[in-house]
Amino acid sequence: MTVSKPLTLVRSEPRLAAESILDALPSPIVAVDAAGRIRFVNAAAQQFLAGGAPALVGRALVDILPADSPLHGLIERARATGRSLSEYAVSIEAPRIGNRLVAIEVAPLPEGLGAVVALHEQQVTRKLDRQSNQRDAARSVAAMAAVLAHEVKNPLSGIRGAAQLLERGATQADRQLTELIRQETDRIVGLLDSMELFTDTRPIERRPVNVHEVLDHVRRVAAAGFAYDHRFVTAYDPSLPAVDGNRDRLVQIFLNLVKNAAEAAPGGTIRLATAYRPGMRLAVPGAGAGTQLPLLVTVEDNGPGVPDALRDRLFDPFVAGKPNGKGLGLAVVAKYVGDHGGIVEFASEPRRTIFSVLLPMAREGGS
Ligand SMILES: Nc1ncnc2c1ncn2[C@@H]1O[C@H](COP(=O)(O)OP(=O)(O)OP(=O)(O)O)[C@@H](O)[C@H]1O
Ligand SMILES: [Mg+2]
Repeated sequence: MTVSKPLTLVRSEPRLAAESILDALPSPIVAVDAAGRIRFVNAAAQQFLAGGAPALVGRALVDILPADSPLHGLIERARATGRSLSEYAVSIEAPRIGNRLVAIEVAPLPEGLGAVVALHEQQVTRKLDRQSNQRDAARSVAAMAAVLAHEVKNPLSGIRGAAQLLERGATQADRQLTELIRQETDRIVGLLDSMELFTDTRPIERRPVNVHEVLDHVRRVAAAGFAYDHRFVTAYDPSLPAVDGNRDRLVQIFLNLVKNAAEAAPGGTIRLATAYRPGMRLAVPGAGAGTQLPLLVTVEDNGPGVPDALRDRLFDPFVAGKPNGKGLGLAVVAKYVGDHGGIVEFASEPRRTIFSVLLPMAREGGS
């Protein structure tokens, strides 16, 4: 019959095509069978796991990634529940591959045949501290900075007051100097204020917040000022539950992100979107189930993208790629998102830059 020829073609070609499609993907993809043995690795996975397909296929995944890696538990859970799972900010460590931070998606294969795993390397602000001494060092530097800021501000206000007193009887020429003293002390106080903001580790006050109301407020503020010639597009998930958050800080987070988007894309389009992702969790090594971060808010612009040289340090204070940039906006975003126990990350290419914020959900009936 005439159908037999097309049928054989259809049967052989997709197999080939599927493999080359998987090889073309930049993300590592690994399929394991029910016994936890690797059955397939795409090209990116071979690079990630530092081995060729012949060396990897047939080996147990636990031989390559240590048994206490959260990945194994995730595969088990996906197979047991028959559902796809994803987890953010998982630290994967192995002698051959070093320590990498990834988002993991695991989908069970039908009929208990195993599972397929996709890994996405992440540039997140909450690089879960790999070494506790590093964390302690950061903490004592922060404490020192806080004390310094506090102590320097007192004498500064004295200096400023004295300059103001001198100003009264000063000549025109001298007044220029006293003004200079005032302006410069104000600048130092401003700098110290922003330093104190990062060193403040007190827990924030949280209650259920409607993130759409926050985004609309931010949009109005932006459109009336720095984003007056931009087009705003919104794509809200109407069923989005409330955030367990602090409204003032959430406003500041999205105002900073929208300001960056506006500055990156003059006259461009800024897209604000929300989505509910119940599978998203933050995996803290050794801390059981991890924090649920199901609320996703994205701010997207069609500007030229984040400069390559800044990508690794984008959320650090004083990192800026524009002439008048202070480099504080994203550091504040990272701090405030961190205060919520959330995650912020970005993906950027020319004409499409997306900052994603993952936040916890308020418990029903308030938190
Ligand atoms: N949406 C974006 N598109 C392209 N580059 C961006 C974007 N957002 C941030 N950047 C880059 O990251 C840098 C740091 O941003 P950040 O908000 O921390 O500081 P800033 O905008 O320079 O100054 P400010 O303290 O006033 O916010 C920017 O200078 C810019 O180079
Ligand atoms: Mg900024």
